[in-house]
Amino acid sequence: MREQSRAVFERNRRYIPGGVVSLNRKVQPEIAFVRAKGSRLWDADGNEYIDYHAAFAPFLLGHNDPEVNDAVVRALAADQSLMGTGATPWEGRLSELIVESVPSVEKVQFTNTGSEATYHAIRLSRAFTGKSDIIVMQGGYNGWHNEVACNVMTPLEAVGPRVSPGEYDYHPLSAGVPADAGAKVHIVNFNDLDSIAYVLDRHPVACILLEPILQNVGVVRPRPGYLQGIREFCARYGAVLAFDEVKTGFRHALGGYQGLCGVMPDLSVFGKALANGYPIGAIGGRADIMDLFDDPDPSRRVLIAGTYNAHPAPVAAAIATLEKLKADPGIYSRLEAMGQQMESGLQAVFAEAGVEAAVARQSSAFCAYFMDHAPRDWHDIARHHDFKFDIKYRQALISQGVYHFPLPTKQGSISAAHTEEDITQTLGITRKILREMKKAG
Ligand SMILES: Cc1ncc(COP(=O)(O)O)c(C=O)c1O
Repeated sequence: MREQSRAVFERNRRYIPGGVVSLNRKVQPEIAFVRAKGSRLWDADGNEYIDYHAAFAPFLLGHNDPEVNDAVVRALAADQSLMGTGATPWEGRLSELIVESVPSVEKVQFTNTGSEATYHAIRLSRAFTGKSDIIVMQGGYNGWHNEVACNVMTPLEAVGPRVSPGEYDYHPLSAGVPADAGAKVHIVNFNDLDSIAYVLDRHPVACILLEPILQNVGVVRPRPGYLQGIREFCARYGAVLAFDEVKTGFRHALGGYQGLCGVMPDLSVFGKALANGYPIGAIGGRADIMDLFDDPDPSRRVLIAGTYNAHPAPVAAAIATLEKLKADPGIYSRLEAMGQQMESGLQAVFAEAGVEAAVARQSSAFCAYFMDHAPRDWHDIARHHDFKFDIKYRQALISQGVYHFPLPTKQGSISAAHTEEDITQTLGITRKILREMKKAG
């Protein structure tokens, strides 16, 4: 049934270490995908899947959105190559659209990925404050560069029990990270203001960098008052508040999660849904901070560089995505309705099957946790979630044509190309696999 997929992996492994080009793509079952359209994926053997993985969430409008693709084709047909010198009108247009959409953003710069953009958020914060340290969240992911590539799904045996107030040791996600890479990085619980105060009292903190909703360990929402509390601490201690909206930005609202929660960061970082799957990242925020990218004094100027920054293909895709979202705000209400259908449907199906589960959700992003409550931080998940059941559940869904990323606690993403019928079909398949899993013990 997966002969062709197997052949692709075998061929790729000859020259690509592990046969995949991003560590997280090395999962079971091994499937080679060859086509994607709307809410669907097809593998090399012709099997069709309803896709909720959405390539780790960029596909807000669905795969290969025709308007976004047309915009890219038009840009290339108009000979919009990568000029790589001077300015282009289209990067200016994209900056306008972002500033008009996201409440706290006054100026923007472009990168190719979210990781580059979080890197710049840290560098900019250090230049602006003259301080060195940063605070990030246990269970948060902010990209693959040395200081932040740490402490996402850290096993409890390594990270230790929950401490509050306090901080955790730095656990890099990679070999090859210098031993002192975490020297200025403070890792605290999400949803825990006391631990943030603890670090701010003891260290010169330039920046608090966090996903406003933890969406790399499912969907862990901030408690009421938590983000506002961080905002107040940043003002009191002179630290920059940077929201990593790479996953939340444009997915939950045109104004990002900040547009919904009303807490304004100093800097924001975007990627993913910004160009509906084309590679681009952005950093934006207060003009007085962003202008450090153009400070006339070289000793204060923050370096932004990148051969491919604002390449016309992803820029055209981002403009088309934002114009489509702006022109049809009904997209967000349809996403909310489908999210609601998925949440209540899953809850009913789990209850019917006698499976203890809590479904956490923010609009089109959702995650089923096999525990009796929606989690508040990584320790809560690590202690209570049934990881083994989660993997079996995801693999059973994949075998029946519903693609969820086959690792525990990874977010499901609904797109505007999904339909009510897709969700109903997904719930029917979920009911069936739970029955079969129960029978198999
Ligand atoms: C919240 C968050 N920040 C940053 C990144 C890094 O973005 P990229 O993979 O484009 O470098 C990711 C990627 O998953 C992310 O989820």
